[in-house]
Order: sequence, then structure tokens, then C-alpha cells
Amino acid sequence: MPMIVSVPKETVPGEQRVALVPELVPRLTKAGLDVVVQSGAGESAGFLDAAYAGKGARLEAEVFDKADVLLKVQPPTLDEIGRMKENSLLISFLQPYTNITAIKALAARQITAFSMELMPRITRAQPMDALSAMSTIAGYKAVLIAATRLPKFFPLLMTAAGTITPARVFVIGAGVAGLQAIGTARRLGAVVEAYDTRPAVKEQVESLGAKFAELGLAAKDAEDKSGYAKAQSEEFYRKQQEMMSKYVTAADVVIPTALVPGQRAPILITEEMVHGMRPGSVIVDLAAEQGGNCALTEAGQEIVKHGVIIIGPLNLPSTVPFQGSEMYARTVTSYLAHLLKDGRPHLDLNDELTRGPLVTHQGEIRHEVVKARL
Ligand code: NAI
Repeated sequence: MPMIVSVPKETVPGEQRVALVPELVPRLTKAGLDVVVQSGAGESAGFLDAAYAGKGARLEAEVFDKADVLLKVQPPTLDEIGRMKENSLLISFLQPYTNITAIKALAARQITAFSMELMPRITRAQPMDALSAMSTIAGYKAVLIAATRLPKFFPLLMTAAGTITPARVFVIGAGVAGLQAIGTARRLGAVVEAYDTRPAVKEQVESLGAKFAELGLAAKDAEDKSGYAKAQSEEFYRKQQEMMSKYVTAADVVIPTALVPGQRAPILITEEMVHGMRPGSVIVDLAAEQGGNCALTEAGQEIVKHGVIIIGPLNLPSTVPFQGSEMYARTVTSYLAHLLKDGRPHLDLNDELTRGPLVTHQGEIRHEVVKARL
């Protein structure tokens, strides 16, 4: 009997992506898997049932109960976990540091669950790096949101009615999302400046045509071995706020993206800094899901404080669901291929690529950091 790989329709409100796109079905069927997609699962992303069927998937109304492997975007709800088969495999975003109840339920149901957020940053894992793929979308979309909310043009324009000066954009954190935001803002014609605690990114910022803000601050151990930022001291963040203030107040648009894995995002823009910004300026806080880089950000809301529009968008990758699904599906199917041998799960727990994202297995929580959070 071939193993059944199932793809449900996402149920979290506002989620438009799907974990598998039709184009990738043959990749799984050729590996000897039986692919079952829930009817309507891809509709909101622009992938109709017929397209999945045309590529060799079966369509069913209920897919949780028979799946040997379940591919998902959002963490399953407790109800969904209850419908999953014991000893099945789950590959999904799991929000492993905060979603403790679901993690416990997955362990109790003997599900082997892999969290796409925990993919190690090693060369072999690059095609499976879902976070980077989704950050690309977030960075792009943040700029478009800012451009539509800003009461100004982005580009320099020479018109008969006068010369329009370009908008000034300040990007804080030049990781994957930040670099994409810089590139997108540059393409729209803005003048862009950016800052990151990791000095290694200066060159990347400049190669995109932006200026690196020299704050004269030396971050201690700016980066861990996987390239992520390390948390800094309160004193450092206070100095950073002080040194960044002139960049923030000179900008028309500020896009903060600064994250420290597993922790609340650092507050880098204080209310006082917002107060110093020009009315009509826009902050699109890409750290909103992790508490926000701006002290005034309200997750999922658009507010106006001191005349400044502060937007804390949630789940931006879902707003580009077509490629959001395509990119996510590529990372997930690559990871599944890594976990299988001759169409069956073959888990080598000595391999960091298998062990890194593994959260629950054989009734236990296996991930040390997640376990420590309990
Ligand atoms: P992220 O989403 O965790 O953080 C965003 C950015 O915020 C990072 O660049 C971080 O340095 C910066 N940041 C943190 N605290 C800050 C502060 N106080 N002020 C200013 N900036 C601050 O990081 P992301 O985008 O996921 O990746 C960061 C880097 O990791 C990439 O630029 C890349 O070099 C590396 N990477 C490596 C991969 C691999 O080897 N497979 C895959 C993806 C990224």
C-alpha cells in the first residue's frame, strides 16, 4: 500500500495559502506516494481541484483521518490534531515556541511533527528554508502597503507642475525581509537607508543601491553560527534608539524587520521617536507578530499616533497566496523527500536536518528549546 500524503484546506481565518501546488504533485507520486488533496484546498491561492486531479492527485472531502503524512501551512488546531492518525507525520509551520498546547496534543497523539520554522540554516537545507521564502513576500508587500498609505509619491518626478522629491525609506534589519524591502523600495524610486546589527550585511545593503546607516555602535557577538542575530543588552538597545532617532525622524517610511529568534522583537522605535516624525509618515512594522519593533504597534491593526500611520500587519505571506503557496510547497516537498526512502519515512535522528525541525516523536517532545519552554 502506498503511503497517503494529504493536504487539507487551511482553516485559520485569513489564511489563503495551501501546502501543495498542482505542479509538485508528480514529484510525490513519482516517489510512490498517494496524494490526496481536500476539495477546495487550493482555491483561495488560485489552484483549482481540476488542476490537482490533472497532475495525479485524488480529491476528497475529509483528509485528516487517512493521512500517513500531512502537509500544512498553519499549525493544526486541537480539533484537527484529534482527527489525525496516530503515528502519522506532520510537516507544517507550528509556532513551536508559543503554541505549547498544540505541541503537547501532537505528542499525546504520537504524531511525528516537524516544524518548518526550525529548519537549520545549513547549505543542504536552503531549498527547505520556508521562513526565508515567506520573508521575501513580507518584505515586498510591506513596501507596497507603505507606498499606498503614504500621502506622497515614492519616485523623483520632474513634471510641468514641479519637481517631486523622492520618498525616504528607512529599513531596520537587513535580513531576508529587509533586503527585499530595500530592493522593492529602490525599484519604486525611493531613497533608502538601512541598518542592521550584523555588520556583514553592509555590503548587501549597498549593492541594492541603499545607504548603510553607520550608527557607531558595536554589537557584541552580533550573529550566531547560523547567521541569526543575537539578543543585545538593554543598554545597547537604548543607545541604538538614540543613534537611530535622526534616521527615523527624517524618513517618510520606516520598515522595521528586526527579529531575534525565539524572543520578543526588540523595541527600537519609541513613542518619542514617532512623535518626532512628520505627520503622514508611515511605519510598517514587520516584527508585529513578535511584539513589534515600534513601541506603539498593535498587531493586526492600523493606527494613527502623533499623525503617524503605524501598521502592524499579520501574515503578509498569505496576501500573495499564489507564489506564497508555490514557494512554501517547494520547501515542504523538498523536506519530505529528505525524510523518505523508497516511499517510506526513514528518520535518521543523527542527521541535523532531520533532528533540527523535529518537535514531537513517539509521544515525546524532542526539541530541547521547545521542551524548555514548557
Ligand atoms: P530574522 O528574520 O531573524 O531577522 C531580521 C533581521 O533583523 C536580521 O538581519 C537581524 O540581524 C536583524 N536584527 C536583529 N536585531 C536587530 C537590531 N537590534 N537592529 C537592527 N537589526 C536587527 O533574520 P533572517 O532575515 O531570517 O536572516 C538573517 C540572515 O541569516 C540572512 O541575512 C542570512 O545572512 C542568513 N541566512 C542564512 C541561510 C542559510 O544559510 N541557509 C538562510 C537564510 C538566511
